[in-house]
Formats: sequence, structure tokens, C-alpha cells
Amino acid sequence: MLDVRPIGIEDYAERCSKPLSALHDKLWVETYSKTRNPQMMVGALEGQFLKMLVGLTGARRILEIGMFTGYSTLALAESLPKGGTIVACEIDPVSADIAKRYFNESVHKDKIEVKVGAAAEILRRVWGPFDLCLIDADKENYGAYYDACLELTRTRGLIVIDSVLRDGGVLDPQDDCAKSLDALNKRIRNDPRVENVLLPVRDGIMLVRKL
Ligand SMILES: C[S@@+](CC[C@H](N)C(=O)[O-])C[C@H]1O[C@@H](n2cnc3c(N)ncnc32)[C@H](O)[C@@H]1O
Repeated sequence: MLDVRPIGIEDYAERCSKPLSALHDKLWVETYSKTRNPQMMVGALEGQFLKMLVGLTGARRILEIGMFTGYSTLALAESLPKGGTIVACEIDPVSADIAKRYFNESVHKDKIEVKVGAAAEILRRVWGPFDLCLIDADKENYGAYYDACLELTRTRGLIVIDSVLRDGGVLDPQDDCAKSLDALNKRIRNDPRVENVLLPVRDGIMLVRKL
């Protein structure tokens, strides 16, 4: 097994994968010019991976926790069939406003329902079942989001949890965030209700399939 990834290998993988839409490129530039943490966007490689997951699972109803400026939301929506829907939650109204402007420019805008507020609160008000849930918000609450998503996901549905490696911090967890991510990764591994695989792509993508 490769212990150190060759520098540039993710860029290479991205160059050898289909690109996302021109709207994504425009959103990328604006997010970099107007927000403080633009690196939070999943990026083109993971965006294309998410699109692939929607196509492979045949998902028609998606829940996203942590929309930010809408980069991943757009990728998911672009892959949904006609009539498919995505409920996207974001706590920051400024980010959500940027996202909404871009959704309005997209031919897929009617598929997207934005909910602004704390995910924990929104999760109490949404109804399942969802075919696919994406968790990409405040890491400290990932455990609670996982439990809620497991309830809301249909049998054989998919939960995708982003950034579960804490830049490698889970190997020797020191801070609370790394400790809670490590505990969640191990809890999922031992959860008899699901099958799972943790992919070391970007900062770690956990795929969980509800049995
Ligand atoms: C890593 S970013 C999501 C990036 C997004 N998936 C993308 O590709 O652009 C995490 C987002 O979760 C939001 N967030 C943090 N805490 C939240 C909460 N309690 N409820 C809802 N959203 C939250 C943050 O404001 C931030 O925009």
C-alpha cells in the first residue's frame, strides 16, 4: 500500500476525469474572491465523484448537510434525473445567498430546495426517505448527523460523509475534532446496520450503505 501519495496525483486524477460545468468554474472563482474558507468546496474531482454516485445509485431524493456556496449541491443536482430533488442545508446566510444566485442560473434550479439554519434543527423538520445523504458540515456534530441520516435514508440508500480524516489527525487524535471523527469512523465500521468503506480521497470520504 502507498503510504505517501505522490505530489500532484490528485491533480492528475482530476485532469483525467470529466470536468464539471462552466457554472462550477464561475462559482469557484467567486467563492475564492468573496469567502474566507474557499478550500471548503469539495473541488472538481470529488464533485465528479459525487455526480457518479448519484448516477450509480439512481438517487432521486438527496439530503445535503453543509451546502456552503453550493458547489457540491450543483454537482449533485446536475446528476439527478428530471423530477429529482435535493434538500440542501446551510447555517450561514451569506454563503447561502451566493449559492442561491448560482442555482438560479442553473437549468437544474427546480431540483434544489435550500434550507437556511442549523442542521440539527432542520433535520427535525425534514421527512425521509432519502436515497442519498451527504454530510459535510460542522465535524463535532457528525455523529448526530450520522444517526439522523441513518433514520432518514432508505434501506440500501447511501450516506456520504466528507472530510473524515482530519488531515491525517485521526491516526493519532489529539484535538476534540480528530477524536470525535476517529470515534465515528470506528463506530460506523462496527455498526451492524450498514456496510462501509473509507476512501482516502482528498480528506477522506466515508461511504455508508444502509442494509
Ligand atoms: C465544508 S463546508 C461545505 C462545502 C460544500 N459541500 C461545498 O462543496 O461547497 C461546511 C459548511 O457547513 C456549514 N455549517 C457549519 N455548521 C453548520 C450547522 N450546524 N448547520 C448547517 N450548516 C453548517 C458551514 O457554514 C459551511 O458552509
